[in-house]
Amino acid sequence: MLRTNPDRLWDTIMHLAQFGRTAKGGVGRAALSEMDGQARDCFVAWCEAADLKVRVDRIGNIFARRAGTDPEAAPVLTGSHLDTQPLGGKFDGIYGVLAGLEVMRSLNEAGLTTRAPLEVVVWTDEESWRFSPGMSGSSVFCGGMDLDRGLAAVDAQGVTVAQALMQIGYSGEHDPGGFAIDSFFEAHIEQGPVLESENIPVGIVPGAQGQRCFEVLVTGAEGHAGTLPMDRRRDALLGAARMVDRINALAFEFEPHPVITVGRLQVRPNSRNTIPGSCRFSIDARHPDDQVLASVDVKLRELCRQVAGRTGLEVEVELESRRTTVHFDTARLDTLRQAATQLGIAHRDIFSGAGHDACNLAAITPTAMLFVPCEKGISHNELESARREDLAAGCDVLLHAMLARAGASVLN
Ligand code: HGY
Ligand code: MN
Ligand code: MN
Repeated sequence: MLRTNPDRLWDTIMHLAQFGRTAKGGVGRAALSEMDGQARDCFVAWCEAADLKVRVDRIGNIFARRAGTDPEAAPVLTGSHLDTQPLGGKFDGIYGVLAGLEVMRSLNEAGLTTRAPLEVVVWTDEESWRFSPGMSGSSVFCGGMDLDRGLAAVDAQGVTVAQALMQIGYSGEHDPGGFAIDSFFEAHIEQGPVLESENIPVGIVPGAQGQRCFEVLVTGAEGHAGTLPMDRRRDALLGAARMVDRINALAFEFEPHPVITVGRLQVRPNSRNTIPGSCRFSIDARHPDDQVLASVDVKLRELCRQVAGRTGLEVEVELESRRTTVHFDTARLDTLRQAATQLGIAHRDIFSGAGHDACNLAAITPTAMLFVPCEKGISHNELESARREDLAAGCDVLLHAMLARAGASVLN
């Protein structure tokens, strides 16, 4: 059976990792930053060298198309994201994009033309590091977010997505979405320890757990650190700290636990000798059962109110985004399983704790994901790593799943 090229895939991933390389050998490439622009330019050049036709939509999603014998047939899509976390790794998202490119390169080498076109996609702004709520490119494409809202998202410096797209030359002219798609397959590292611990090279992903993200604003009053007595203070950071501790404890009230993370906290005015007058922090809560998330929602609002009341503060809790648990397409999952079985590649089902662009695509086209192991399950960390042979196994399964859908009709 046709196989992809493990060394070329590995080298391609390592090459792209130079754009935004961090001191410890990870990658910090904010969505639509200069480094993201350079990574995108490199990817587009590779696609054009592989005779793929590249187009960009108005939210900056990149589509690289390999023609089929039937130009009217609905294309089979694959892809993921190139933006990373601040102290991210070389593989999160990037693997899914470059595995798609490797599929195209391998078909070119084999002289194989499919009936339906194939496309590899770079979705804009999957990570919510620079622009919240994240996953905006695939969400706008799938109609889950209004284009204008996606373009208007601002970063900490007040730069909008629209401005950032212009700055790096990826403000495309195609309207997002609006065309029939046969399937979307996303290959991704597991970002957890299960596959590696069981020494299984490929995970078939039936779904991804639900998520609710909140922004909390705690308001007190600035004051002099040296003169205001402790019992007269309205210290917003103290209130926020007590809330964070109780929000963490909230996770343990449910079985199985939701995962709840406060990842971002901003203090104003953030000066050593001024009592903080306001404090803003994020909450990321996830669980497979939306009822649990609904209960977490109610409880965290109540505990924030209680803490604020006891410390003379005001508090506002805003739900920023929510997604219920996504179940991927059973037929496309079988297509992945059959490909792995034909290739003699061990595989198992594994549910996703992380969110992915595929969660958005599932709303508009039959969608399925595959995972490959990553070392000790580490991700969103510079030490993220994966094995060449696992990356290749996942890529081979992706190749044959896409061929199964697109029909390999002729040898050139
Ligand atoms: O947060 C997530 O689940 C994804 O890594 N953006
Ligand atoms: Mn990620
Ligand atoms: Mn990812």
